[in-house]
Amino acid sequence: MAMLIDGKRISALVREEIKEKTAALKTEKGIVPGLAVIIVGEDPASQVYVRNKARACEEVGFYSEVYRLPAETTQEELNALVDSLNVNDAIHGILVQLPLPKHLDETDVLLRINPDKDVDAFHPYNVGNIMIGDYRFLPCTPAGVMELLKRSNIDPAGKKCVVIGRSNIVGKPMAMLLLHANGTVTICHSRTKDLAAVCREADILVVAIGRADFVGADMVKPGAVVIDVGMNRREDGKLTGDVNFSEVEPIASAITPVPGGVGPMTITMLLQNTFTAANK
Ligand code: GUN
Repeated sequence: MAMLIDGKRISALVREEIKEKTAALKTEKGIVPGLAVIIVGEDPASQVYVRNKARACEEVGFYSEVYRLPAETTQEELNALVDSLNVNDAIHGILVQLPLPKHLDETDVLLRINPDKDVDAFHPYNVGNIMIGDYRFLPCTPAGVMELLKRSNIDPAGKKCVVIGRSNIVGKPMAMLLLHANGTVTICHSRTKDLAAVCREADILVVAIGRADFVGADMVKPGAVVIDVGMNRREDGKLTGDVNFSEVEPIASAITPVPGGVGPMTITMLLQNTFTAANK
């Protein structure tokens, strides 16, 4: 039986630490970390994420603003809002919830965010910083995975780490963080030959492909650590990961559940980045 990596518990611990640091920052320097979240359109999943982000800010004592813009918002209007937040001293972090409606250019907006306020770490400046090992802002989901490993006393150093998925938000930065932690890292994707054999080599397997129950017992080495970044909605409305939990759990040494694994950590790391921006 695998050790369950409890993201809810670890997330609560880290948020408590952030709450304490925030109270001290306010007392000592008179600074209250401020986060602005922009959401364009009515995507239901994004609405839930944004509500959760605002609530999390409140719980740790941050100031937050949510801008709910209509789906017809123009690029100029969105850019103008980002420009105004870039020079707003009460706002230390700016997050534009993705995906944006199709007529808007994501790259253009992300490039416009002041890199010092880029708490998602999506700006090419911060992406570049991660490549060269300057880790002021870390992308939230991969940073959350690293925090889960650290607090579960799992050290990637010298281990074979396999990441399935090569997205800019998760797969690629995840590989960088594992490499920085001295793992030997392989990135797999849809064109990888004999994926199962590559995955069976992994001491630490991180799965981020967005396909429900994709990783079965045949892809996992007995004793491996399995981190499931997937969040898929089943037909009955239930959340499920990319890993077939009931098959893999008996052979892994440690595993994250879905929900309650990586998910809760993502917003926690956003709070951490916002605190870092405010404390600069
Ligand atoms: N949409 C899904 N995940 C994310 C995220 O981490 N940041 C932003 N800005 N949008 C998202």
